[in-house]
Amino acid sequence: MDHIKAIAFDLYGTLYDVHSVVARCDEQFPGRGREISAIWRQKQLEYTWLRSLMNRYVTFEQATEDALRFTCRHLRLDLDNDACKVLCEAYLRLQPFPEVADTLRELRRRGLKLAVLSNGSPHSIGAVVGNSGLRAEFDHLLSVDPVRVYKPDDRAYLLAETAFGVTRSSILFVSSNAWDATGARYFGFPTCWINRSGNVFEEMGQTPDWQLGGLDELLPLFDSRGSALSRT
Ligand code: LAC
Repeated sequence: MDHIKAIAFDLYGTLYDVHSVVARCDEQFPGRGREISAIWRQKQLEYTWLRSLMNRYVTFEQATEDALRFTCRHLRLDLDNDACKVLCEAYLRLQPFPEVADTLRELRRRGLKLAVLSNGSPHSIGAVVGNSGLRAEFDHLLSVDPVRVYKPDDRAYLLAETAFGVTRSSILFVSSNAWDATGARYFGFPTCWINRSGNVFEEMGQTPDWQLGGLDELLPLFDSRGSALSRT
């Protein structure tokens, strides 16, 4: 393996818990929060993939709002415009997973360059990262918005290689989304799948180079100076 110089992280579900919107959903629709959040997230992803296939890009915020409206109609819940606004804004204040802040700081201390590479818009990535106080940990916040196509399209992953200015084989891509880890590995990034919930990986012709139970498990992959240790 080439020397790893930089790490690109997926945002939603990897660094930040998309289901931190459950409480807000429960306030609007008591007892339905988990169900809404699960369908909402799945539909949001489907809409990004479908829009890429159709070459009909809208921003991630728009896809998120469209997915919420679908979810509530599907569940026969009456979503007025105010509730829609409240719930979509909750997506700008997602909580990071508990081990994320300390792990990012330690990786930086060891000399690694760090970036977010997300399907979110520049505004939503900036808000989520800024609201959690983690902006200073990243060299780049990269949105797919300039290329108007979503991960797992190669043009999205290329943004990280361009921003870091090093060859893709020296950039570790980290995602908890198995479809995203698959796309990244086809692109040519060494890839780490964060599997916090004991899920199975996709059957799409790739396997991740590492499978870890949380972000903190990245640290043993690097020595104290940030050099990558051998593949497990
Ligand atoms: C991201 C979502 C799709 O790109 O997880 O951050």
